Amino acid sequence: MSVHSDVKRITTHILQEMKNRGEKISCLTAYDYSMARIVDAAGIDLILVGDSASNVMAGHETTLPITLDQMIYHASSVVKAVKRALVVVDIPFGSYQGNSSEALRSCIRVMKESGAHAVKMEGGTEIKESIVRVLSAGIPVMGHLGLTPQSIYKFGTYTVRAKEEQEAQKLLEDAKMLEACGAFGVVLEKIPASLTKLVSESISIPTIGIGAGSDADGQILVVHDMLGINKEFKPRFLRRYADLHTIMQDAVENYVKDVKAVDFPSVNESY
Ligand code: KIV
Repeated sequence: MSVHSDVKRITTHILQEMKNRGEKISCLTAYDYSMARIVDAAGIDLILVGDSASNVMAGHETTLPITLDQMIYHASSVVKAVKRALVVVDIPFGSYQGNSSEALRSCIRVMKESGAHAVKMEGGTEIKESIVRVLSAGIPVMGHLGLTPQSIYKFGTYTVRAKEEQEAQKLLEDAKMLEACGAFGVVLEKIPASLTKLVSESISIPTIGIGAGSDADGQILVVHDMLGINKEFKPRFLRRYADLHTIMQDAVENYVKDVKAVDFPSVNESY
């Protein structure tokens, strides 16, 4: 089904209404025009131009190296393709942690230069001042708690976060702080399902889970992972909806074979 005729754009208010009436919010990442067109036409509610682009598009081991300019490039390609979904852009490592003026400058650049609809930043109380300042400029902000990949060198591993009471309590307080500041939603990454349920019931704004169980108000996955483009990445939380790696590799192998055999192009494929 194409949603491109008679499209009603998804806004942060619509996401809030979805939570209020108990409708789950579907989210995926996208980083380029062609993928974003497919994802949007399939009816996704929110597209995140994630800094996971650093891994899946640029081949870096972590999300740390991607730059603000590179995020703006990915985001503006996605925005051109999207007719319905809310487009949220990750503010990359090193572009907001320094101080709130830097955070505001980075977010304004993303909004002005890409045409995206909202930004996402990782962290809780540590970045409260930046969140407040960006929100006061009229830019919708989404939080990100639990496993925050920009802090991977502090954590040391990608294992489940907030299993201990103290960290779980801090996460709950951070979620309440984001709600009180006026964030429109919060990503909860790799935390126990029971904590997701508690947070989702304790705050009025939508929670979007990844590896966080079914009680989040919505779910997000990295599009390359759920399409099976990346064969090696197999965390427990990932459901693969296709095996595009095999399909694409087979197609390319067949093309190579046909070129070598002078089977392609045929007469009909020539002028
Ligand atoms: O960068 C990203 O793709 C993300 C999602 C995993 C939530 O932050």
